[in-house]
Amino acid sequence: MKIIMLGAPGAGKGTQAKLIADKYNLPHISTGDIFRANIKEGTALGMEAKKYMDQGLLVPDELTVKILLDRVAKEDCKNGYVLDGFPRTIPQAEVLDKALAELGESVDFAINVEVPDENIIKRMGGRRACLSCGATYHLEHIPPKAEGLCDHCGRELVLRDDDKPETVKNRLQVYHEQTSPLIDFYRAKGVLKEVDGTRRMDEVFNAIVEILD
Ligand code: AP5
Ligand code: MG
Repeated sequence: MKIIMLGAPGAGKGTQAKLIADKYNLPHISTGDIFRANIKEGTALGMEAKKYMDQGLLVPDELTVKILLDRVAKEDCKNGYVLDGFPRTIPQAEVLDKALAELGESVDFAINVEVPDENIIKRMGGRRACLSCGATYHLEHIPPKAEGLCDHCGRELVLRDDDKPETVKNRLQVYHEQTSPLIDFYRAKGVLKEVDGTRRMDEVFNAIVEILD
């Protein structure tokens, strides 16, 4: 099963993608997590990506597409995957489609997690992320068991550089201009499914499971 998560920054794509990946035993692939891991390790790719991410801009397609295609070619992806944060532009979606078509495959579900901008701005300030394992928390909605520490790996939780209010506004603008056209792109292919992302995390997940089952 090949699943794409669509939705604005902070809509809950990562939160839901992890739950889907666990339940259906699929790899969870987040281009944002891949970039953040590279930034942390100080790789050339990370340094290049950081220039864009810190401003809330998209990393250029040339860089992003290559990373994604290399990742989905790995052995663990042969039964499918959950893509979180890719594609983010029409050209990225076209590259993915073409690569899949060459294998006689296609995307099965594009799940759009819908959350209005006002809710997003509130959510982002409360998010805390583990840069080691990629786990995400929310100070109010999903607090970690021990304050400031990751439940999974015990490392320190941080406010992501791009979760500062000014950058969040830029990310939302970029989303509306460059990423939201993907909703119609996947609707036209007959694989778009929409869920209300303003509900509780478990309710959103139940709605997704109904679609996938
Ligand atoms: P990326 O890491 O993908 O960030 P994003 O799309 O901006 O999305 P987020 O991770 O911020 O939000 P999310 O939807 O995953 O929400 P989450 O589950 O954490 O990308 C970062 C940057 O990398 C981009 O800006 C770009 O520069 C670059 N990049 C990445 N991919 C790229 C690509 N393909 N092309 C070009 N550039 C690329 O939830 C948010 C918060 O809300 C959390 O605190 C969570 O706990 C909480 N929450 C979740 N669900 C609920 C709920 N139902 N109720 C209450 N709170 C909830
Ligand atoms: Mg995410």
